[in-house]
Amino acid sequence: VTAPRVSTARADLEMHITLRRRSRTALHLQIADQMREAIREGRLKSGSRIPSSRQLAATLNVDRNLVVLAFETLLSEGHLSARSGSGTFVTTETISEIQTILEPQEIPRWARRTIIAPKTEPAPQAHEIAFRLGQPSMTELDLIAWRKIWRDVNRLAPFGDYAEPAGHLGLREALADYLRRARGLNCSANEIIITTGITQAAQLIARATLGKLDRIAYEEPGYGLIRQVFLELGARILPIPVDDDGLRVSQLPKGKAAPLLVYCTPSHQYPLGSRLSIPRRVTLLEWARTHGSLILEDDYDSEFRFETAPLPALAALGPDCTAYMGTFSKTLSPSLRVGFLVAPPGLLEPVLKLKTFSDYHTSIPVQQALAQFILEGHFERHIRRMRRVYASKREALVAALEPIQSFAPLKGLEAGLHAFLELPPEIDAQKVTDLTRTRGVIVRTLESFHHKPPVMNGLLLGYGGLSLEQIQRGVKEILWAVRQYTQA
Ligand SMILES: Cc1ncc(COP(=O)(O)O)c(C=O)c1O
Repeated sequence: VTAPRVSTARADLEMHITLRRRSRTALHLQIADQMREAIREGRLKSGSRIPSSRQLAATLNVDRNLVVLAFETLLSEGHLSARSGSGTFVTTETISEIQTILEPQEIPRWARRTIIAPKTEPAPQAHEIAFRLGQPSMTELDLIAWRKIWRDVNRLAPFGDYAEPAGHLGLREALADYLRRARGLNCSANEIIITTGITQAAQLIARATLGKLDRIAYEEPGYGLIRQVFLELGARILPIPVDDDGLRVSQLPKGKAAPLLVYCTPSHQYPLGSRLSIPRRVTLLEWARTHGSLILEDDYDSEFRFETAPLPALAALGPDCTAYMGTFSKTLSPSLRVGFLVAPPGLLEPVLKLKTFSDYHTSIPVQQALAQFILEGHFERHIRRMRRVYASKREALVAALEPIQSFAPLKGLEAGLHAFLELPPEIDAQKVTDLTRTRGVIVRTLESFHHKPPVMNGLLLGYGGLSLEQIQRGVKEILWAVRQYTQA
């Protein structure tokens, strides 16, 4: 072993490498970690030469290969650089120096924009009973079939390229077939774009169509998150009230004041639960055709209908002026992040371009699994099963709320996974929710669903994700809270 030169001896000292031979961390990683730390802390100065692997191995009394491995790690990270013939050096601009240069002096220019906080529901605590909206129940899913399908998809070698922005053809074909049967939509796979959900579909449509001064008519009250998506894009929102027959179509401005887009939830108004009546459907389509406007039909939970025949989708009656948006978020799970858009001809191409800009396409393995789930009949079986499950939950909710029906009617029960309990003016919905919260029951008022005051007085009760027992216990607390006001 050659004697180290003075400079490298100093470097040895500055590195202070202490090896723990019994540690679970491999020795070469320990060496690399400690050298990196010495560089970051400035003990090993940039530009300084470090001992050769042979010298360091001798000093540390380890196999030289371990030191070589540690050097390779630091070289690949850019902490060290090798100059052939003259040795290995600490890289001139070390990370610690770069960090000092970037020490923030003030809020950087690029961090000055404020993004509005998304109106999403916070996850409840384990002990709470939360009547969350749009929450599907997962316990009835046929896990044997689900897991088998994922195993099958796992066996496929991943596709080595980007796929079509419209999505997996197998899923689009399966959906076209399903939508034809279930929703009366006369569409082909070529008119379908797989998205990461209705939220993305709505955003892509808005980006594809809205100009600076264009307006979008939006249900009032309505779904807060998608309204925010439009607002965030700079769109101008025109609130249109809803009643027991859905969107009040007669209030849509005519002539030059007609908005370019109309967003609505005709199957089960979100959040009040009403259905858009047939006459209003016809009027809406006529209005859209007259004014060259596009209807955004959000069909988020139409699969779950109770005791009523389905009304035809707007896209079935007027496919030329309706963009139909569906999702697997309620029928299966929101965590899948898969939805679909059936687009009229003029919308297809622009949305496909924007989908490519956004994320190229939705994940193919997930789409393959869903296609197989539909083709093997599991999807529709699951929907039939869930219809029965949700119907019994809905019955439990209705029965439990019976004692206050004379003054607080429960509405929006024909479809979906939630209902609306309308409260008389003397019972303040906000106070009721504050009271139930003290007893671990979380319910929502309509506040975040309104674009503008006045806010309707009532409670939104999502029951899909709760057990029968939780529904009964939860409603007991709601009745208790309501009685605090009726008895006062
Ligand atoms: C009215 C409405 N539309 C759409 C969605 C679902 O959107 P996504 O498909 O992006 O999950 C929800 C979910 O809560 C909803 O309530």
